[in-house]
Amino acid sequence: MNPVCELLKCTYPVLQGAMGNISNPEMVAAVSEAGGVGILATAFAPDPEMVRKQIRDTRKLTQKPFGANLQVMSPLTPKIAEILAEEGIGVATVSGGSPKTLIPYLHERGIKALVVVPTVSVARKAESLGADAIIAEGSESGGIQGFNGVSTMVLVPAVVDAVNVPVIAAGGIGDSRGFRAAMALGAHGVQVGTRFIASRECIAHLNYKNTLVEFDETGTCLINVGPFQVRALRTPLAEEIIRGEVKPQFGFGGTSTNASWLQGDLSAGVLAAGEVAGLVHDILSVKQIIEEMVRA
Ligand SMILES: Cc1cc2nc3c(=O)[nH]c(=O)nc-3n(C[C@H](O)[C@H](O)[C@H](O)COP(=O)(O)O)c2cc1C
Repeated sequence: MNPVCELLKCTYPVLQGAMGNISNPEMVAAVSEAGGVGILATAFAPDPEMVRKQIRDTRKLTQKPFGANLQVMSPLTPKIAEILAEEGIGVATVSGGSPKTLIPYLHERGIKALVVVPTVSVARKAESLGADAIIAEGSESGGIQGFNGVSTMVLVPAVVDAVNVPVIAAGGIGDSRGFRAAMALGAHGVQVGTRFIASRECIAHLNYKNTLVEFDETGTCLINVGPFQVRALRTPLAEEIIRGEVKPQFGFGGTSTNASWLQGDLSAGVLAAGEVAGLVHDILSVKQIIEEMVRA
């Protein structure tokens, strides 16, 4: 049996990556119902109790296992981890910092810890701290990343060679070709973000989905927001930020993300997405996306 399917009790080794305020219960449940593993996001939750509500809303839609993401840098993470344990969540992806304190906390509560890493050395460290699996996230992925990232094509086999736990490839995977390529590189599963934004179930505004569908493979850029950078669609606002005409903080986080991602005001915030946007040409159901991805 595939080690990721065994670990996560799913039919297909396809995780839907956490995505800020757009990993809504409908999308998460649809991914798990289709045989993958949906992951709720928690990083943008202004109140940890919102996460509890999202877990309960998701449970109304599926009996299948799903997980949640913990962002190490959020001050609310300890409280959110407590809620995951109270609500019986069995798997958490851990991103954005050292999992040193979170892994033992999660393990004591029977929660598996899948750690997102950008390099081999961070992967080795995460494994030594007890990570149940490594998510090797290449620099073509959408959303937040560091400054020394490498692409999925190089990162995945390098991490596969370096660790003994299952490796899940993330970044640039949007269809069956990407899925097969990841498995050929030695990964045991994939984590997909951008492709699921252009799904019917995703709560992202149609302006976000349509922009993603329209842009080609050159349609993303990296925006420096200080301690990290964000890969986003090359919208006019993103270009203005890159030219230094608008402060990056204006375009990412807080109210700007709600206004642009959920309400569709493309001048209010940048739209996080990966290079794979160039391969996304339509808005499909989650089930259609997963079935195409895993077909032999
Ligand atoms: C809009 C957006 C928001 C994201 N938010 C998060 C997040 O909150 N936590 C996290 O660990 N990863 C986040 N990611 C990364 C995804 O979970 C996933 O690893 C990544 O999208 C995979 O690369 P892809 O975009 O090429 O599919 C985000 C990605 C996108 C596109």
